[in-house]
Amino acid sequence: MINKPVELYRDTLRIIDQTRLPELMRYEYIYTLRQGIRAIKELKVRGAPLLGIFSAYLVTLLAMRSKERYLSRLKKRLLNAISKIENTRPTAVDLFKAMNEMKDIIRKAKTKEDLVQMLRDKATRIDESLGEKCERLSEYGLTLFEPNKKYRIMTICNTGFFATNHIGTALGIIYKLHEKGMIEKVYVPETRPLLQGARLTMWELSQNSVPSVLITDNATGFIMEKEGIDAVIVGADRIARNGDTANKIGTLNLAILAHYFDIPFYVAAPFTSFDLSIASGIGIPIETRSEDEVKRIRKCLITKEDARALNFAFDITPNFLISAIVTDKGVFKKPYNFI
Ligand code: MRU
Repeated sequence: MINKPVELYRDTLRIIDQTRLPELMRYEYIYTLRQGIRAIKELKVRGAPLLGIFSAYLVTLLAMRSKERYLSRLKKRLLNAISKIENTRPTAVDLFKAMNEMKDIIRKAKTKEDLVQMLRDKATRIDESLGEKCERLSEYGLTLFEPNKKYRIMTICNTGFFATNHIGTALGIIYKLHEKGMIEKVYVPETRPLLQGARLTMWELSQNSVPSVLITDNATGFIMEKEGIDAVIVGADRIARNGDTANKIGTLNLAILAHYFDIPFYVAAPFTSFDLSIASGIGIPIETRSEDEVKRIRKCLITKEDARALNFAFDITPNFLISAIVTDKGVFKKPYNFI
C-alpha cells in the first residue's frame, strides 16, 4: 500500500514526485513556499482536485512553520504566499477555490494558534470532502451504464488517485465499473507531452487489476472504430456555466472523434471544478507551458535544438460535444443548468 500523493506529515508536506513515476516511487518532503511552488510548476503534484488539496496544505504548512510572533505580519505573509501560489497554474479552478477558502480563514482568525488550527482543519476538510465527492460522482457515473454488460472505455491523462488523493473522477467511474465486472478494457492514450496516461494511468489501472492497453494519442480515432469503444470518460480542470469544459490537451480531439463515431462522451468532475462565474469556454484561462516539453520526451531531444514548439496544456470541449457531465450532485445533460 503506497502513501497518498499529498499528505501533511509531521512538520512537513509529503508528496509523491509524480514526474518520476512509474520507474521510481519517490517521496519528497516540502518545507518551504519555494519548494511547494516548484512542485506545482514542475507537475510533481498535478490534477485539478489535487492542486486544490496540495495548495491548502501548503498554506497550512507555512503557517505551522512560521516563527512570526505577530498575527498581522503572519497574515500578511500568508496572503502574499497565496498570491504566489495562485500564479503557478491558471486553468484548474480547484486551486483558486481552495485559496479563497484559506484567505477567508486568514481574515477571520484572532490568534496565531487559532489561525494554524483553522487552516489545518480547513485543508483536511477540503481533502476529505473531495474523497466523498469522488465516491458520490463515481456512483452516479454507474447509472450511465447498463448492468451486467462489459464496456470498452477510452479516457485521457490521469484522473485517479494521483490527481485527487482519492478514488478519482473519470477513473473513479472506471473503478466502480470494474468492481461490478463491467470493464472489458480501458484504452489509455499516452497523453503527450508529459505522458500522464502512459506513466500514471497505466500504473494505477494495473495496480487495481483493471484490464488496460496503452495507445498513442494519434491512434485514438482508428481505435475507436476498430475496437468498438463504447464510451469515452474524461476529467475536467474547469467547467464553465454553459458546460464548456477545459481538460488536458487532446480531450477536444477525443470529443470530436466520439461525436463522429456516435460514441457517448462523458465528463466527470466534482463541483469544485466548476466555475459558474464564467459564462462559456472562451473565458477559461488556458495554460501554455515550455516549448521544451514538446521538443523532448523525458529529457531526450526529439527535434532540432532550435525548433519552435507550441505547448497548450489544456483545450476546451464545447458543451454540444458532451453527452453528460457526471458530478457529485448527479448527472447533468443538455441544456446544462448547474445552479
Ligand atoms: O496538467 P495536469 O496533469 O495537471 O492535467 C490534469 C488533467 O487534465 C486532468 O484530466 C484533470 O485535472 C482532471 S483530474 C481529476
